[in-house]
Amino acid sequence: MPSLNDIRSTFLDFFARNGHRVVESSPLVPRNDPTLMFANSGMVQFKNLFTGVEMRDYKRATTAQKCVRAGGKHNDLDNVGYTARHHTFFEMLGNFSFGDYFKEQAITYAWELLTKDFGLAKDRLLVTVYHTDDEAAGIWKRVAGLPEHKIIRIASDDNFWRMGPTGPCGPCTEIFYDHGDHIWGGPPGSAEEDGDRFIEIWNNVFMQNEQFADGSMRPLDMQSIDTGMGLERIGALLQGKHDNYDTDLMRSLIEASAHATSSDPDGPGKVHHRVIADHLRSTSFLIADGVMPSNEGRGYVLRRIMRRAMRHAHMLGAQDPVMYRLVPALVRQMGAAYPELPRAQALIEETLKTEETKFKQTLDRGLKLLDDELSRLPEGGDLPGAAAFKLYDTYGFPLDLTQDALREKGRAVDVQGFDKAMDEQRAKARAAWAGTGEAKDAKIWFELAEANGVSEFLGYDTESAEGVIQALVRDGAAIGSAAMGESVQIVVNQTPFYAESGGQAGDAGWIRTDTGLAEVTDTKKAAGVFLHIARVTEGSILKGQPAKLEVDHKRRGAIRANHSATHLLNEALRETLGSHVAQRGSLNAPDRLRFDFAHNAALSPVELSKVEAEVNGYIRQNGAVETRLMAPDDARALGAQALFGEKYGDEVRVVSMGVQDGSGKGTDGKTYSIELCGGTHVGRLGEIGAFVLLGDSASSAGVRRIEALTGQAALDHLRLQDTRLAEVALALKAPVTEVVDRVKALFDERRALQNEVAQLRREVAMGGKGAGPDAKEINGIKLIAQVLSGVSGKDLPALVDEMKARIGSGAVLLIADTGAKPAVAAGVTADLTDRLSAVTLVKAAAEALGGKGGGGRPDLAQAGGADIGQAEAAIKAAEAAMGG
Ligand code: ALA
Repeated sequence: MPSLNDIRSTFLDFFARNGHRVVESSPLVPRNDPTLMFANSGMVQFKNLFTGVEMRDYKRATTAQKCVRAGGKHNDLDNVGYTARHHTFFEMLGNFSFGDYFKEQAITYAWELLTKDFGLAKDRLLVTVYHTDDEAAGIWKRVAGLPEHKIIRIASDDNFWRMGPTGPCGPCTEIFYDHGDHIWGGPPGSAEEDGDRFIEIWNNVFMQNEQFADGSMRPLDMQSIDTGMGLERIGALLQGKHDNYDTDLMRSLIEASAHATSSDPDGPGKVHHRVIADHLRSTSFLIADGVMPSNEGRGYVLRRIMRRAMRHAHMLGAQDPVMYRLVPALVRQMGAAYPELPRAQALIEETLKTEETKFKQTLDRGLKLLDDELSRLPEGGDLPGAAAFKLYDTYGFPLDLTQDALREKGRAVDVQGFDKAMDEQRAKARAAWAGTGEAKDAKIWFELAEANGVSEFLGYDTESAEGVIQALVRDGAAIGSAAMGESVQIVVNQTPFYAESGGQAGDAGWIRTDTGLAEVTDTKKAAGVFLHIARVTEGSILKGQPAKLEVDHKRRGAIRANHSATHLLNEALRETLGSHVAQRGSLNAPDRLRFDFAHNAALSPVELSKVEAEVNGYIRQNGAVETRLMAPDDARALGAQALFGEKYGDEVRVVSMGVQDGSGKGTDGKTYSIELCGGTHVGRLGEIGAFVLLGDSASSAGVRRIEALTGQAALDHLRLQDTRLAEVALALKAPVTEVVDRVKALFDERRALQNEVAQLRREVAMGGKGAGPDAKEINGIKLIAQVLSGVSGKDLPALVDEMKARIGSGAVLLIADTGAKPAVAAGVTADLTDRLSAVTLVKAAAEALGGKGGGGRPDLAQAGGADIGQAEAAIKAAEAAMGG
């Protein structure tokens, strides 16, 4: 019996053998479709090849595509577990021709694969065609020899396949398998077609038209093929089963669930195991593709599926979290075909465990509340909307979880009442918001958030995506269109642009629609709505248009490198300076990074170079940067550094990088940096390239600021420094290696020359070496009094000492004519200080010079003056003070 893995390979090998490129499944979150929540068929990733917008180097392709149908238009969630063929996750096998082969070849391949490679009995097969498609009917007759009654013409849209309200489309032919008359049901198109006897196994679409939003349809230039076969269905058929959940792959997951809960896979808990097996696949694949549980958009669909599975695990009596323990079984089954699964295994397990642990805390109380409510209701009555809302709001029960729980009891929820309660809560939130004193022009953003929901950020994994323009805003008012040259804020339902937050700069880039191009210079966030701040540079941009959004990759790359380097810097500072270092602010711009942290001394050159070397060491280590989502307490237990001033909700994003090499600290193998962070980061640390500190400065009391560069900017900076050094060397006429010694020598020489000049000045001032001015004798004490030009006040004490030495015994008064304010100094030799104080002399002189005060010791005193014109008067005043 072929396994599902064998069947997948047989399909892909068949088409590879027939000239088809085997293309990997695209991620579950479509990058190229703004209207689609999840990839829900194989053609999604090829949409633009059918319409001729995009060309690739192959014209035939085959895929096994991961699909999720939960949330959005195709929502199978409610039925999963209770029916034989509903899944939230399934694999769609497909073959595609892009303007290459068409109907005849497609039908020939299909028939050959089914009847030869898969060995299905020809007489069990029948097909439908679109009622006007005589060509397809003719081919089936010719190629497969099918009789007329096995080629059923269907007039309805069932046989005209459309991707959605817009996009490529065309008539299709569906291949059915007849399980035999022991099962109830009729052929397609009959009144009994919903029975289980005739099961559709393969849809072949003849892509030949394009559908537009205004309802019109035009023929495409090329005729193409798009087919889809559910692996689980064909698997069941080839394994002789009637129920997809009896296939080997699904069965192994059901058994893993039974084992983990010590229960019987086919006993009363059968439905629970089926739900768990299916939801394990969708949740694991969604997490592997970057979706994280949240209360919005895709993240909320993931959360709903997870919680639904967790309630079913709870019904099986599981006391502890179960889902994460089943991941290894899934990886064993599907990891070879989808390598993203083993790669993300740790992340998947951790996310499931966190969510289940958290949900368990409220699940019991919620279920009890539900029972209490039900016991109060009349027999068979609907659960009031208010009760369902309380379960949602307080106990984290998504509406469909409550509905699922009631389904087992044959009850329903008053959905209208639930919606009303939800609206009331929104109104309250708005009233509360209005009171927060936000800028008045922010009102529009809140209204937009309420009307359209918050914008979904896709940019952790991608830098280009498609979105629908939900609003254009100028000067706080919504407008219908913006023309070339106009500035406008653009809102889209989903975007790869990062909106400024947590110190990371907003993204720049381009938004293009069918009619115009806008250049985005910055992105900001208000009330959860992303505002692309833009200017229309070509044509015009209209509300409601689908748009291609492209982030400026180079700029984002530089921002990411700076942001990741900031995390490394934070840790290196803690390692070097101590654990008191705490972030006080940061800026991660495209051209530089800035980091403010608590520390109250300047960093020494040794500390700076140690920090720089440590960061560069981790860059060279080139470890992967890992992002996980967890409860704040778990993150703290891990030792995550919380960012300053951030508020954290139910879950936090934890970014870890680098592995410590120990180097004597006994920390081998430990993660180097763990931070809570909502920003974008490099995939591997090597992408940072290089890290250069520009220095540190004081930012405010007790806070230091470091600025640094990474990547090319760091190298450019070093190159510039080097050029400057070469210029210095050239000016010094010395090799670069001798520059430091040469500069030191120049300084020594300069100091010696300065001393010499000062000495010469003093000598000149005093009328030459050895000689001295004449002394007067007043009251029996010799006095030398002199006005000196060309010396400064600073020189005076030394000159006074010199004069005292020459005079032997006596007093000295020197006035410096500095050109600006005069200075005066006086000295008295030691043998006379008990009779005369230098302070007395200096005070008298200073007063005459228009100065004030003066001070010093009896043997040497100084003062300042105001008017050099009074120099003679000052000498006279000093003489008078000596009693002359
Ligand atoms: N795109 C087609 C489908 O999903 C094959 O049925």
